[in-house]
Amino acid sequence: MTAKRTSESGLLLEVANVFKSFREGNDSPETPVLRNVSLLMHVAETAALVGPSGSGKSTLLNLIGTLDKADKGVIKLDGQDLTRLSEKELAQVRSRDIGLIFQLHHLLPQCTVWENVLVPTLALPPGNSVKGGAHTSAPEQPELRAKRLLERVGLLNRLTHRPGQLSGGERQRVAVVRALINSPKLLLADEPTGALDARSAENLADLLLELNREEKVAVLLVTHAPELAARMGTVYQIQDGTVSLQ
Ligand SMILES: Nc1ncnc2c1ncn2[C@@H]1O[C@H](COP(=O)(O)OP(=O)(O)O)[C@@H](O)[C@H]1O
Ligand SMILES: [Mg+2]
Repeated sequence: MTAKRTSESGLLLEVANVFKSFREGNDSPETPVLRNVSLLMHVAETAALVGPSGSGKSTLLNLIGTLDKADKGVIKLDGQDLTRLSEKELAQVRSRDIGLIFQLHHLLPQCTVWENVLVPTLALPPGNSVKGGAHTSAPEQPELRAKRLLERVGLLNRLTHRPGQLSGGERQRVAVVRALINSPKLLLADEPTGALDARSAENLADLLLELNREEKVAVLLVTHAPELAARMGTVYQIQDGTVSLQ
C-alpha cells in the first residue's frame, strides 16, 4: 500500500490553465467549452461549482475525475499530474483516490446494495484492504468498511435489496457509499441532488457534509441549487468558459 502523499501545504487538487473544446462532427469547427480554467482545493475542503446549463460544469468534473482528457493545462491531484499519467495509472487513481456520484445513481440493477458498494474494491490489487479513511492510516477490510458506511447512512436493513426496491434517496446513499468505499481523497458529485425531492435532497446534502468531516474527504459538488452551494466552503462560478470565485 503506497503511503498517502498529501503535501505539507494541504493542497489536494490543482487545476491550472485548463482548456477543453468539443467537435460535434468531423467537419464541424471546435467549440471551446473550458478556456483557461484554474481552481484549487485543499485536503478535506468542500467546494461548489455553479453555472448555467451547458457552461461546462460536467466537462470540468469529468476532466478532474479522469473520465476525459484536457486539451491543455495541468490537473494535479495530491501533487501528481493526471494529464501525464498512462491509462493504467489513471485507472488506479480513479479507483483509489477519486469517488464519483452523479444525478442518476448508476447502480447495477441486478446486484444487491451490498454487492453494489463492494464492486469498486474488486479493482484494488490483491492484499485487499482499503485505507481506513483519511483520518487513520490503519487499513480497513472492505467488508467492514462497507458495513460501517452502510450503517452510517442508515441502510443496514437494505443490504439484500436491489436498486429497484429502494427510494431515490436511498439509491443515492448507496451511490455515496460506493463512491467512498476505497477511501478516496476527493469526492466529485455532479448534481447529486438534482433528481431528488426537496426533503431527500436536503438529507443527502447533510449527509455529504457530515461524511466530508468524518471521512476527511474533499467534496467538489456541482449544483443548480444556490442554498446547497452556499453550504460549501468555497463557491466557484463557471461562465463563458472560465471559472471564478463567487
Ligand atoms: N462529449 C461531448 N461532445 C460534444 N460536445 C460536448 C460533449 N460533452 C459536452 N459537450 C458540450 O459542452 C458544453 C458543456 O457541457 P456540460 O459540461 O455538460 O455542461 P453543464 O454540465 O454545465 O450543463 C455543452 O455545449 C455540451 O453540448
Ligand atoms: Mg452537467
